[in-house]
Amino acid sequence: MSTTAQPVGPEALHQPRLVPLHALAAGADLERYFRWRSDRHGDPFLVRFPSFGSVVFTGTPAGAREMFRAPVELLAPPLPNPIEPMVGPASLILARGERHRQERAVLAPAFHRNRISAYGTVIRDTARDELAGERTGRAWRAGTRIDARDAARAMTLRVILAAVFGIVEPELLAEYTSATTEFLTSFGTPLFAIPALRRNMFGLSGWERFTAARDRLDGLIDTEIVRRRAAEGAGADQDLLGMLLQARYEDGSAMTDTDLREHLRTLLVAGHETTATVLVWALYRLHRAPETLARLRAELAAAGPDLDPIEVAKLPYLDAVCQETLRLHPPVPIVLRRLTGDFVFRGTSMVAGDTMGLSVQLLHSDPEVWSEPQRFHPERFLEHRYGPFEFAPFGGGHRRCVGASLADFELRIVLATVLGAVRLRLSPRFARGRVPWTAPHNIATGPHAAITFEALEP
Ligand code: HEM
Repeated sequence: MSTTAQPVGPEALHQPRLVPLHALAAGADLERYFRWRSDRHGDPFLVRFPSFGSVVFTGTPAGAREMFRAPVELLAPPLPNPIEPMVGPASLILARGERHRQERAVLAPAFHRNRISAYGTVIRDTARDELAGERTGRAWRAGTRIDARDAARAMTLRVILAAVFGIVEPELLAEYTSATTEFLTSFGTPLFAIPALRRNMFGLSGWERFTAARDRLDGLIDTEIVRRRAAEGAGADQDLLGMLLQARYEDGSAMTDTDLREHLRTLLVAGHETTATVLVWALYRLHRAPETLARLRAELAAAGPDLDPIEVAKLPYLDAVCQETLRLHPPVPIVLRRLTGDFVFRGTSMVAGDTMGLSVQLLHSDPEVWSEPQRFHPERFLEHRYGPFEFAPFGGGHRRCVGASLADFELRIVLATVLGAVRLRLSPRFARGRVPWTAPHNIATGPHAAITFEALEP
């Protein structure tokens, strides 16, 4: 639809009937569904979610620009949000307006590039420990079978626990790891998608399992907050919790314990599965592209095994590989904004309560921007600089992912450490044929199957 034509309301867009069938198709393979819809009905197109309502979607740079540049005072996150039970109502993800601005002003400095670089050694040591088999008791030696998702989740969880809470002491780390894993896995797809399931049933329901896991994690977080408040200086330079305890709003007040707890839970939820899933895709793509893998290995070998993590993160080909993986496999495939007033989006007159959506996968495969969009070709990022409305794995505008620098840094250091130390072979089932489709994994998405590798002789 042309944006220069007279705006029309969303009712003028194709209205999908058989909503449950569309929802099934979208749930089974979101990328395919969106591609089918935009091929058939153009851009924008309207999608109806059974428990969520209608969303006008775009997948073009022009649409991304309109959405990310829309006046901030007209934008809110869509509520109710299925992840609210996990993150809590005080979470940054759910905040809007002035409160969102203030919370971001407090949280964002903790994620500044200069602060993040302090975690380089923790990230590298985490990857080295995983390779040494510290967690599983099985080092990545020739013949060992590796479940990439399992390993990536363990590494990113450990990094986020170290970065957020400064936890490295093995016993406490084990307790946090088990509490966080139980909390994340107990909120499965049914609870996520069907709010009616969120009820008590004499201690037998999935919802009660989830709330018990959340209480356990909150208990650990509360103990840590009390301990830190009592300690001199609260460890401001040490980790994100220390910084948040010291942070003050514009009126000089500190965060309440409830807000702090929900922000910390948000960081665990948002920062763990997302990064893990990209690591899995990067390993998968690299091991299906021998020339790309060889070029990356050569760059890593030339840099040497003991290069400072900050320098590792600057290696150009490694950077290109990470960007290309995020392009093809953005773990957060849709970005949404609910309108609080009138706005014309892609030639559609929207009113308060309407929702705009960006399909990141469509944006990242727009043939006007990307040549051979389905090909894994990191070189494109060496040859060309893409703009924020063409490449947006971390969303954009005033809500762009607050943890993007940490995620970027972690991806590069973990990949460099793993590939610099071991040789892997994709299990035959994944080495050829169709790329696994993308399925929901908690708040992120990832390969539908657990991708496995075999470690080879170095
Ligand atoms: C590869 C890893 C990651 C990806 C692809 C990713 C992607 C995203 C996306 C697309 C959004 C929505 C942005 C928007 O609405 O415009 C988002 C928001 C957010 N992300 Fe990430 N994320 C990643 C890692 C992290 C990490 C490591 C953290 C923190 C530890 C984090 C914390 C957040 C938070 C708090 C928000 C909400 C921001 C707001 O609403 O203002 N994310 N992320």
